[in-house]
Amino acid sequence: MRVVIFGPQGAGKGTQAQRISKKTGAKHISTGDLVRAEIKSDSDLGKKIQDYNDRGDLVPDEIIIEMAKPYLAETDAWLLDGFPRNEAQAKALDDALEELGIGLDGAIAMEAPDDALVKRLSGRRTSEATGRIYHVEHDPPPEEDPGPFNQRKDDTEEAILHRLEVYYKHTEPLKDYYDERSILVSVDATKGIPEVTEDVLRAIGEDG
Ligand code: AP5
Repeated sequence: MRVVIFGPQGAGKGTQAQRISKKTGAKHISTGDLVRAEIKSDSDLGKKIQDYNDRGDLVPDEIIIEMAKPYLAETDAWLLDGFPRNEAQAKALDDALEELGIGLDGAIAMEAPDDALVKRLSGRRTSEATGRIYHVEHDPPPEEDPGPFNQRKDDTEEAILHRLEVYYKHTEPLKDYYDERSILVSVDATKGIPEVTEDVLRAIGEDG
């Protein structure tokens, strides 16, 4: 199973990729997590990409492609969350997979309206201990997760609105890109978290 999952910020890509990875054993590869880990490490690369992340802009293609590529060959089952984010990245992904002699099995487009997205992002918390994504109302942390539970730096209202603009301009057109390749499946991301997981599992043929 090799699947890309994309959608507007807050649609639940990370939430669903974590749940599906747990259920199927497929590796969850999140370029957003890779970017945040690089920034946290205080490396030269981390310093170079921090402003892009904090503003809600895309990290330059050549940097993000080099960050993502090594993970593609690590296992034969993965969910790529947050990559590709534009047509240049989608083509780079196709080229990398061709070099490896493998293909993409599906592209999941998560769909939800902007007002729901902003509410979700302002209530998002991420556990420093486990990396699990929660929501203060819709998915509060269980007692066994020790936390602490942090808010992301790019979850300010200004950065959220900018990230959505970037999504509609650069990432949404990927729906056509994958539809032309007959691997696009749209999923209604406004349902509850478990229902969306079931729909995604069905979409990738992992429901039985
Ligand atoms: P990234 O980490 O990918 O962030 P994003 O695209 O902004 O997406 P989010 O993580 O905000 O949303 P999500 O859909 O994963 O929502 P989540 O599941 O957390 O990227 C961050 C930055 O890194 C980018 O801005 C860019 O700078 C850089 N970057 C990354 N990839 C790049 C690339 N390819 N090219 C260039 N730059 C790149 O859920 C949100 C909240 O909603 C949570 O609280 C959750 O509990 C809740 N929730 C989820 N589903 C539901 C539901 N069904 N009902 C109710 N609540 C829900």
